[in-house]
Amino acid sequence: MENIEDLQNRLLAEIAAAADLKALDETRVAALGKKGCITEKMKGLGALPVEEKIAAGKKLNLLKTAVENAVEKRKNELETLELNRRLAEESIDVTLPVRPETQGRIHPVSKIYEEVVAIFGEMGFEVAEGPDIEDQFHNFNALNMPADHPARQMQDTFYIPNPDSADFDDSYVVRTHTSPVQIRTMENKKPPIRIIAPGRTYRSDYDATHTPMFHQVEGLVIDKTTTMAHLKGCLYDFVRAFFEVDNIKVRYRPSYFPFTEPSAEMDIGCKKGKDELKIGEGNDWLEILGCGMVHPKVLAAGGIDPDEYQGFAFGVGLDRLAMLKYGIPDLRTFFESDLRWLKHYGFVPLDESSMTGGLSNNGGLAR
Ligand code: DAH
Repeated sequence: MENIEDLQNRLLAEIAAAADLKALDETRVAALGKKGCITEKMKGLGALPVEEKIAAGKKLNLLKTAVENAVEKRKNELETLELNRRLAEESIDVTLPVRPETQGRIHPVSKIYEEVVAIFGEMGFEVAEGPDIEDQFHNFNALNMPADHPARQMQDTFYIPNPDSADFDDSYVVRTHTSPVQIRTMENKKPPIRIIAPGRTYRSDYDATHTPMFHQVEGLVIDKTTTMAHLKGCLYDFVRAFFEVDNIKVRYRPSYFPFTEPSAEMDIGCKKGKDELKIGEGNDWLEILGCGMVHPKVLAAGGIDPDEYQGFAFGVGLDRLAMLKYGIPDLRTFFESDLRWLKHYGFVPLDESSMTGGLSNNGGLAR
């Protein structure tokens, strides 16, 4: 009869050679099942004299443990192999060209987002992000809007109670603009800083040009010698690339924002017809964005020494840019999830926006 050592060698070899989970289980049952060879041997122990019984019992227990461990190990191996095989078999080649009849469309806001990132990316800006739910320090105070500042009322804010404090000043807000990302960036990064921060913003407002959730992109440049001239050149290049009009007319109007000094609004030239808006030329003006030199108090709040550094900032409404560029009259329709609307105003997927490959890819416009 096969001795225990031979049996163990045979069983371990069979287990290691089991080609799949089914074969492995058959080997396991043949050894450890009700009628398995190890089980049979264990049953046979009763007939042995006492001293032999103890020694043989020990050996059988060791054998049993060795076989159980080997089965477990092989099972893990086979499961990993099986998973890898399935992963390889079921993978999708995402580089395959989209079939022309593809139904999906890129939302105009996503398209504008990509275009803006492509333009500023080319100029060396990084994309920064911040949370949608902000504290009042980042959304207001650090931006030179203390609690009693009238500008707070301009921004019909949604407040969120703070579960840890009944004090209203501790309540959170859903950010009313992307400007808090300026502060978060200054807190985490040393100058030179050159970032844009696109994202969602929220205000309690609802009509053809306002929705409670909308999108902005913030820009921030800080260095030792950054001036208003850099601001003007940077934003001129931006609108020129964005509207794809080489000699676009622009002007800067003095304005007021608490977080910049001096502050300006940038207008672009346009021609307003009865049912048409032509951008870039003509004798009318269209307000496009707010901008200015970062207020020294804002630099200080972000932990940057205003005696050493200066910079500029700007804020643009992304949805408004989409409405202007792609002639979409009502902002509310952006967020109604109407597939007919998306089919009309959306963009064919994979028409990537880039400065070299074409920004808006009008050929890809799904109309
Ligand atoms: N945060 C302003 C708003 O929501 C937009 C803005 C204006 C941002 C001027 C800026 C800026 O950074 O310099 O209305």
